[in-house]
Amino acid sequence: MVVKLKLGVLASGRGSNLQAIIDACETGAIPAEVLVVISDNADSIALERGKRHSIESIYVEPPAKGKKEEYELQIVEHLKRHGVELVCLAGYMRMLSNTLLDAFKDKIINIHPSLLPAFKGLDAQVQAFDYGVRYTGCTVHFVELGMDSGSIILQSVVPVYQKDSKEDLAQRILEQEHIIYPRAITLFAEGRLELEGRKVIITEE
Ligand code: GAR
Repeated sequence: MVVKLKLGVLASGRGSNLQAIIDACETGAIPAEVLVVISDNADSIALERGKRHSIESIYVEPPAKGKKEEYELQIVEHLKRHGVELVCLAGYMRMLSNTLLDAFKDKIINIHPSLLPAFKGLDAQVQAFDYGVRYTGCTVHFVELGMDSGSIILQSVVPVYQKDSKEDLAQRILEQEHIIYPRAITLFAEGRLELEGRKVIITEE
């Protein structure tokens, strides 16, 4: 029997990456299972997706000013209650503080829609489009205090065509996100990611 890595997913919106992860778990493409979905947005499609798959899906009210620790402690409590071993941020639009980072040290990963360290922050696809790059892409990386600055696990390169609209480009990037996020989770599940300084070494199978 395959031992499945226990995942908790944090998502704020549409949840297409969450869906890609759930699907990969359910088909057995990756040795993992999503045990809990947590959102800071009560109306997020991500929560609906989780519920549709009978995964506990919880709204945690965003923190009032100065209450971030209490907010993150609630999230930690939910994740620990489910025995989560890897936390996946999937369109979770908040910076993490040490409360979450210390509770899951080197066990939180994120997907970002650019080739980091280019185009950090919001609307990375639009930033790349407006800048006029010929290639952009997406990155799965470990999460640390800085914004979109943690060690890089996987990247996928996407061409930008002159006839592209912003939406075309975002869609082309998203298709790659749905491929590399499950792949990165598999590498983590197989214990094949080693941190050497800020570099991630992918060890042989
Ligand atoms: C994705 O494109 C993801 O890379 C991005 O938000 C979108 C969420 O889509 N995340 C960030 O920009 C994080 N800095 P989804 O809800 O359909 O997965």
